[in-house]
Amino acid sequence: MAEAEVGDDVFGEDPTVRRLEEETAALLGKEAALFVPSGCMGNEIAVAVHTRPGQAVFLDRFSHIVQVEAKAVTELLGRRFLMREGDRGRMAPEEVEAARPSDGGELGLVEVENTHNWGSGAVYSHAAIERVARAARRRGLPLHLDGARIWNASTATGATTAALAAPADTVMVCYSKGLGAPVGSAIAGTKAFIQEARGARKMFGGAMRQAGILAAGAIHALHHHVARLAEDHARARRLAEVFAETEGLAVDPREIETNIVIAQVEGPHERLHEFVRAVAAQGVLIAPFGGPGRFRAVTHLDVDDAGIEQAITAVRGAARSVLVP
Ligand SMILES: Cc1ncc(COP(=O)(O)O)c(C=O)c1O
Repeated sequence: MAEAEVGDDVFGEDPTVRRLEEETAALLGKEAALFVPSGCMGNEIAVAVHTRPGQAVFLDRFSHIVQVEAKAVTELLGRRFLMREGDRGRMAPEEVEAARPSDGGELGLVEVENTHNWGSGAVYSHAAIERVARAARRRGLPLHLDGARIWNASTATGATTAALAAPADTVMVCYSKGLGAPVGSAIAGTKAFIQEARGARKMFGGAMRQAGILAAGAIHALHHHVARLAEDHARARRLAEVFAETEGLAVDPREIETNIVIAQVEGPHERLHEFVRAVAAQGVLIAPFGGPGRFRAVTHLDVDDAGIEQAITAVRGAARSVLVP
């Protein structure tokens, strides 16, 4: 990153950013890509470009766009949501066919998330996304894919990132999650879409000057940290299996397909925070997440097998002291 060749990316003149955008577009099988500071901004840009004020986005109630980008979508952009729920965030094509705002309002976009964060890292197969995309196309609606963790989905399914992205008109990806880059995301689509996305990025204040130092970290992550994601998935599964057999915790390990484990602390909700604090006191961070009494544990490139054993010891100890009567 320190040695990255840089230029002014506001003028499209940063060679390292351009290289990252070209590599990303190729990996996703899209015409072009645009580097953005965060995944949130990437999703917000997609909504801004695909829809008009007053139109609704059809998506899962626990999608990241609803849970985190809601104020940008509704207050800054003046769009609205039409939400569905169930199957750990994965919508079915029939739901797209039936989706209609009850006040007769207009739909402008369908959005899916792969993997699904609030759904414990649930994965859509290529075939499942293709069916949703076909239903959207039949209604003349574009499909945006929040692929913050598309590399995890690709690792879990064996499908390439290009295959997983193919059914969607646009896709947002993050270099800063399991891939381990310090900063950055991208949005990809047609050249015409990316041209408009540049304007939306400027509107949100996300056009950066010598951003090549950040892009260099993302390129490193793409080249060195994708092949190892299967290790994160195996470690997450091991964590889930231990949680499942720990008194006071509940999770179905068969549901854990990628690097996110959301589990339930049984009993009164207040116990969750005590449990999280007791785990943190042993140097292991988990977060309250996903509803009352639930917490999230995520595996990533800074957690090796020894780290997982430390996490297991911490969770078992905290469960014994806080959760077992
Ligand atoms: C599915 C999903 N989309 C988008 C984002 C937003 O990414 P960022 O935090 O980089 O803005 C996240 C972040 O956790 C995410 O999980």
